[in-house]
Amino acid sequence: MTVSNSPITKSLERIVCKGAPQTNPLGCGEWLSHEGYREDSGASGSQQRVKIGGLQAGFQPAFLSQILELFRYLLSLAKRKKGFSTLDIPRIFNISESAHRIHNPFTADKFATLGAALRLEPETRVLDLGSGSGEMLCTWARDYRINGTGIDMSQLFTKQAKLRAEELGVADQVEFIHDDAAGYVADEKAGVAACVGATWIGGGVAGTIELLAQSLHPGGIILIGEPYWLRSPPTEEIAKGCGAGAISDFLTLPELVASFDGLDYDVVEMVLANQDGWDRYEAAKWLTMRRWLETNPDDDFVKDVRARLTSEPKRYAAYTREYLGWGVFALMAR
Ligand SMILES: C[S@@+](CC[C@H](N)C(=O)[O-])C[C@H]1O[C@@H](n2cnc3c(N)ncnc32)[C@H](O)[C@@H]1O
Repeated sequence: MTVSNSPITKSLERIVCKGAPQTNPLGCGEWLSHEGYREDSGASGSQQRVKIGGLQAGFQPAFLSQILELFRYLLSLAKRKKGFSTLDIPRIFNISESAHRIHNPFTADKFATLGAALRLEPETRVLDLGSGSGEMLCTWARDYRINGTGIDMSQLFTKQAKLRAEELGVADQVEFIHDDAAGYVADEKAGVAACVGATWIGGGVAGTIELLAQSLHPGGIILIGEPYWLRSPPTEEIAKGCGAGAISDFLTLPELVASFDGLDYDVVEMVLANQDGWDRYEAAKWLTMRRWLETNPDDDFVKDVRARLTSEPKRYAAYTREYLGWGVFALMAR
């Protein structure tokens, strides 16, 4: 594995975002560009953004906390080196999606359809950045005998992916690595390189395609899972209700498909989610949160989970379900 941008360099430009959602309607993607969250820094989800890149901005009150944050980050790097990784996604997603096998609006049949549509040959190597709980790789390893590697920043999801591989008897075909996938380039080239619902890893769709292309055999297939507007939201307010930062964050389906043209890629397949899939992804979080609240009444994260459980069904029904589509697009370079 080669990580092209060194963590130290990144630390100077990154935004450490503890649970403060950046915009992405997919829950576990809501949060971030590509940086970590440390469970050991009082992970009650208290929300604070610290921009380490502001170090040169003079001696301000924020300066000390920035130094402290950099120190913590370096400490976490040292711990990672010793095998005590504290890198993780914000806790809310590890709680609300702990019972999910698939962390996006796809259902099992959609992944099966996609696998069949790609006409996967046995022993095809598949790379998956943001692999979640590993359902795509594990089921394709079982059904199409592919080999694969998944990288994910959630400790819990990575653990679940390994268990799923064992459960399906494919642990010798797929490996799951807990890490930040930003800048990840595989040593061994893949026939399929995927990022299914986590394109912030490459700074957006174009950047993620560029990143995945570095791990791909000539003639290989890139998979991009991405939201699009089913219909353009009439106001910015509605876009925000969908989890977007602005209307301009997403394209309509025709625009998204056309955008691959501009990147010099052929769209060779696509499988789209539907509202039932969105319901499985979103509504499944609610019961998980409710159960978590019942079993963890004294946890200092209760307030956050309670607030989310109260607001999410209404928000989802009013906005995401009505305005947002999601699909996986298979691309081949021209
Ligand atoms: C919307 S989910 C999709 C998961 C998976 N592709 C699936 O279909 O189930 C996004 C995933 O990206 C992971 N993630 C977020 N930022 C990441 C990063 N910088 N590096 C690796 N994984 C990341 C999250 O932990 C989560 O599993």
